[in-house]
Amino acid sequence: MKRKLLVLVLAFFPVTGFSAGAGGAALDYVEVSLDDKVSLQNGAKLFVNYCLSCHSAKYMRYNRMAQDLEIPEALVKEQMILPGGKIGDTMNTTMSKEDAEEWFGVAPPDLTLIGKLYTPKWLYTYLRSFYRDESTASGWNNTVFPNVAMPHVMHELQGIQKANITTRVDEEGHAQQVIELEMVKAGSMSTEEFDRSMRDLTNFLYYMAEPARMVRIKYGVWTMSFLLVLGILAFLLKKEYWRDVH
Ligand code: HEC
Repeated sequence: MKRKLLVLVLAFFPVTGFSAGAGGAALDYVEVSLDDKVSLQNGAKLFVNYCLSCHSAKYMRYNRMAQDLEIPEALVKEQMILPGGKIGDTMNTTMSKEDAEEWFGVAPPDLTLIGKLYTPKWLYTYLRSFYRDESTASGWNNTVFPNVAMPHVMHELQGIQKANITTRVDEEGHAQQVIELEMVKAGSMSTEEFDRSMRDLTNFLYYMAEPARMVRIKYGVWTMSFLLVLGILAFLLKKEYWRDVH
């Protein structure tokens, strides 16, 4: 009876492999830091070079980014904005929505708020988890976003990974696909370099989703210090007033 039940349970868990949090693909921890300007600057550079051709970030302006990340405006103009663009422009893509839909089947979403939709951990893992898959239209697949329509745009940096897929049955009898990625062709960066770069890019996406976070933390410290000083003064004043009464 028990055996039959197990078979039944298995039958209800077709090996899609990607159920339950994308096949239970583990997410890698990453630490983001809005204080790390060098990391944010490098992330911005990667974003402009590798993402903006398909995705827009239309709620972000170049001059705001330049100011927040302490990048000289002249440098932003020279290296990040296409000829004819202005420093006060929002970060738009040159690709039209219609073209994108025709090429990829889905239009690449705007990325301004992507750092709110996904955790840094997810983004960091996603960016490093593309693998070759001849069965998809783009020739690529991703462990945390199965059958994603986005190609691996940074394979020249990272190299090419291939997936070794095995099926495992866990203690409760659920069949699960386990995907292990294996580097089959090296890229121009070492694994450590690419990981660091993807941390920078994740950091930038996190910043972009809420630039005010930077200012908020600064204001918070000032506000608390102000209240503390005010509190001490009020206390001294109260002591002074009550001295004559007692
Ligand atoms: C060649 C075009 C192209 C480039 C370049 C590109 N993407 Fe994409 N991206 C796509 C498409 C198309 C999708 C939609 C995929 C889908 O929904 O299946 C997508 C989806 C995404 C998603 C998931 C969004 C969601 O809807 O859940 C993230 C995150 C993302 N891209 C980040 C990036 C980053 C960061 C870069 C720069 C390193 C980048 N992309 C570069 C085409 C591109």
